[in-house]
Amino acid sequence: MNLTELNELLRTIERQAEAAVRDAGTADGLRAAESRLVKGPLADVLKSIKAFAPDQRGAAGQAINTAKNAVKDRFQAALGALRDADVAGERKKTAGFDPTLPPPLSRCGSLHPVTIVQREVERLFTGLGFAVVGGPEMETDYYNFEALNIPEMHPARDTQDTFWLTNGWLLRTHTSPCQVRAMKKWGPPLRVIAPGRCFRYEAVDASHDNTFFQVEGLLIDKHISIAHLIAFMKLLLREVFHREVKVRLRPGYFPFVEPGFEMDMSCEICDGAGCATCRKSGWIEILPCGMVHPNVLRHGNIDPGEYTGFAFGLGLTRLAMMKFGIADIRTLNGGDIRGLVNPETLSGPALA
Ligand code: DAH
Repeated sequence: MNLTELNELLRTIERQAEAAVRDAGTADGLRAAESRLVKGPLADVLKSIKAFAPDQRGAAGQAINTAKNAVKDRFQAALGALRDADVAGERKKTAGFDPTLPPPLSRCGSLHPVTIVQREVERLFTGLGFAVVGGPEMETDYYNFEALNIPEMHPARDTQDTFWLTNGWLLRTHTSPCQVRAMKKWGPPLRVIAPGRCFRYEAVDASHDNTFFQVEGLLIDKHISIAHLIAFMKLLLREVFHREVKVRLRPGYFPFVEPGFEMDMSCEICDGAGCATCRKSGWIEILPCGMVHPNVLRHGNIDPGEYTGFAFGLGLTRLAMMKFGIADIRTLNGGDIRGLVNPETLSGPALA
């Protein structure tokens, strides 16, 4: 091979490089093509240097090196152009993105399980013509006990120990004080429910807390009987659980009703088998109720000779526990966010 032939060969290699650059669409493709040319034809041509006459070897070597550099430069330039194009493409893709904007709101949190159940009960009863009313959490002895036929030395006070305030008031032990308040305010006939927070001086365990929720219900009209009471109570449980719930009715003593009942429902945590939540009985006391005592009607300025009525005190906290399968009441006031119900599925909290 003489120098002219060598130059001819080198030009061919450069043209091959040019073609490879055109054909390779990616950086990897470019690198592979470059390596093929450098290790293949360029390496071969370098070996052919020995065939040249000694006085031509310098010029031949120089020509080969120049060609090799030209090939390498060509690939480097192509790689650089590809990188620039990538960056420009990214910029274009994110042209509408403003990194200073706050992130989109994600759905987090949910209503508290007790609130969910409270709203269901409210929806049901407002549909039945009941008004939703409230009462103070700080109550007087009169409304919490006296007006409910529980005078000062009555033993029923022992079952409802509470937190007393220095002014002689107390934190209400139940929502029943709303009964006489409502009677006095609106008079008969009357249909009200009063959901709210209640307090007791309790030893806290899986099913007792010092703070919990009830819903009081009161219906007063002419000719109201136990049959009305039972029908409403069953309807209430059916609506909240969206199915027929196993219940039992037994006599229960509450000074402000006569006769008084306890409506229990089969424990949803253990399916009636007996567990810590139901204190191994298989039943949960959920709906104490009864016919309003004549003395209570009198305190509410209602003539018991003319009107009768029923009342109930629904354990809202317990109902939420049953509905969502919450085994420990402390989950509800504990402040652990895992105690919230999944808003998408309305399934129970993540806490056991
Ligand atoms: N207030 C009672 C309690 O907390 C529950 C109760 C029982 C309410 C009977 C009523 C009722 O309205 O009729 O223990």
